[in-house]
Amino acid sequence: MARKDVIWMDEKTKSKDVSGKVYVVTGANSGVGLETTRHLVKQGGHVVMACRRPGAGEEAAKSFAGLKGSFEVMKLDLADLQSVRDFASEFKKKYQKLDGLACNAGMVNMESEAKYTKDGLETTIGISYFGHFLLTELLLDTMKKAESSRMVIVSSVIHAGSAKNRHDVHLDDINFKNRKFNNFAAYSEAKVASVLYALELGKRLKGSGITTASVHPGWARSNFGGGGGAFMKLAMAVMRPFTYHMTNSNEESAQTSLHCLLSDDALKHSGAYFSQQSVLYSDKECRKGGWPMTSPNPNARDMDKARKLVAKSREIVGLVQ
Ligand SMILES: NC(=O)c1ccc[n+]([C@@H]2O[C@H](COP(=O)([O-])OP(=O)(O)OC[C@H]3O[C@@H](n4cnc5c(N)ncnc54)[C@H](OP(=O)(O)O)[C@@H]3O)[C@@H](O)[C@H]2O)c1
Repeated sequence: MARKDVIWMDEKTKSKDVSGKVYVVTGANSGVGLETTRHLVKQGGHVVMACRRPGAGEEAAKSFAGLKGSFEVMKLDLADLQSVRDFASEFKKKYQKLDGLACNAGMVNMESEAKYTKDGLETTIGISYFGHFLLTELLLDTMKKAESSRMVIVSSVIHAGSAKNRHDVHLDDINFKNRKFNNFAAYSEAKVASVLYALELGKRLKGSGITTASVHPGWARSNFGGGGGAFMKLAMAVMRPFTYHMTNSNEESAQTSLHCLLSDDALKHSGAYFSQQSVLYSDKECRKGGWPMTSPNPNARDMDKARKLVAKSREIVGLVQ
């Protein structure tokens, strides 16, 4: 049964015809990304499903049979910056414009030791943030060709921390090279970086026709954390009946991204943070969520930090000014 406190898209947004519009959704084969894709296709859009495992994307897309819109699966491995560059250039060969980009994919390295991508980035932040940063920057020119375009990056309630422990990005050692690795810290920092990036990009693109948003989707009953191996999968299966009433279906968890991609109202709040309801906020007043809402974490609202993060990110992913 659906939760009563879930925030849903309004009827006008839900029934918009987006035929002719082109979207990219990363991590589109699973969980929140799959449901985000399904709704966009249902409303007539064409979605490029950017998947690490294209076969899994094709398999998942079989469930779109009979929907109004269309889709294409393309390979994208966010753990490999060359794969991101290849995706962007392939996309630009095929498509003249991009109406919406959902930077949705994410993972957490569940191990106690840091792992690094082939580009030397800590994997959690490398995949969840840096891969999406490069992807977005490379697609901005194509987004500008659309009548108007929207970028959504999926963050998490976890970015907020608590009054005693507000997470922050450590610009002096963002990839955990000289400090002790902690997987929760890595995930939290990746998600603070995501909120800051939407903030900076929203400001930078003001007046360009492109709007941005960061999102907490809710506590999704997705495959998230399943990469932690057999023990983690078993632990998740055992816990599920006990957490069920606190969690959201993947359809519920796709609502916030969809609102940011489709609604007229989201256009008025470029750069903002949008959240589904969530029992996981330590700050009780945030638990009802909000479209948009103010992040309780001041580090995620710091524009100076956001600019420094973006400058550092450009260096790290090899984008020349
Ligand atoms: N689940 C929650 O409660 C929750 C709460 C807050 C925020 N979030 C965020 O929501 C987003 C969606 O997660 P989900 O809950 O839907 O989990 P999910 O079912 O595990 O989906 C994650 C997606 O990310 C993809 N991915 C992982 N590594 C990738 C890579 N290197 N390159 C490209 N794609 C990659 C996965 O592909 P594979 O299938 O190939 O692994 C999968 O499609 C994530 O950003 C997550 O941090 C989730």
